[in-house]
Amino acid sequence: MKVKVILLAAGYGKRFGEKKQFLKLKGEPLFQYSLNTINKIDIVQETYLVLPQEDLERIKIFSFKPVIKIAGGVQRQDSVYNALAHIKECDIVIIHDSARPFATEEMFLEAIENVKKGFDGSITAIKTTDTIKKYKGDLIRETLNRDELLQAQTPQAFSFEKIKSAHEKAKKENITGTDDAYLMERAGYRITYNQGSHLNIKITTKEDLKLAECISNIQTPKRKPIF
Ligand code: CTP
Ligand code: MG
Repeated sequence: MKVKVILLAAGYGKRFGEKKQFLKLKGEPLFQYSLNTINKIDIVQETYLVLPQEDLERIKIFSFKPVIKIAGGVQRQDSVYNALAHIKECDIVIIHDSARPFATEEMFLEAIENVKKGFDGSITAIKTTDTIKKYKGDLIRETLNRDELLQAQTPQAFSFEKIKSAHEKAKKENITGTDDAYLMERAGYRITYNQGSHLNIKITTKEDLKLAECISNIQTPKRKPIF
């Protein structure tokens, strides 16, 4: 079974104000946190690290496993597409945002396991604990049923051939999604979920970096099943 990872680090951090993936947290750049986790996962053979074109040579990485650097695209989806186009001989591909430095080994392993079981993909997710409302202008229009809602995180694991074809279909039809599972869902594939964590935050704004500093200072509590 050939398992490979696409680690996305080609964004420009417009909402953050700079390329957040290269910021240092406790002396290590954010993207390196994910590489460190991937290094502990035996079943993963290699990582495709997607970087902005201008940073390809400059960025130094530390990894026991092979890492192949790829130039990213304008949108996240283009970056994933570029990486998928480079990958040969692969059964399961895991797509992970380097903006989530606290994803755990278990999240990767459970996502892979679900694809091995026969699902076309598995997303790391948590149950929504806030009540989610739909609004238009200054009026609340609808309160969604929280029991039916999940918050999607990464890593997300997919059958390689299927995610590649879903991305090709989306490109042809000019469709953009905020995650890869969406492209799979609209292509009719069966996606399941595995357990994420409220600590698996995505660093989007400066506020999130403050939270990340706190998280990096605590011992992660033992997980209790939430699904
Ligand atoms: N990403 C990427 N290529 C892009 C855009 C995003 O590889 N063209 C990556 C980012 O580096 C990040 C992940 O996708 O790890 C999630 O994206 P996001 O949090 O939106 O990061 P940015 O796009 O950098 O931030 P912003 O949207 O605020 O510009
Ligand atoms: Mg973005």
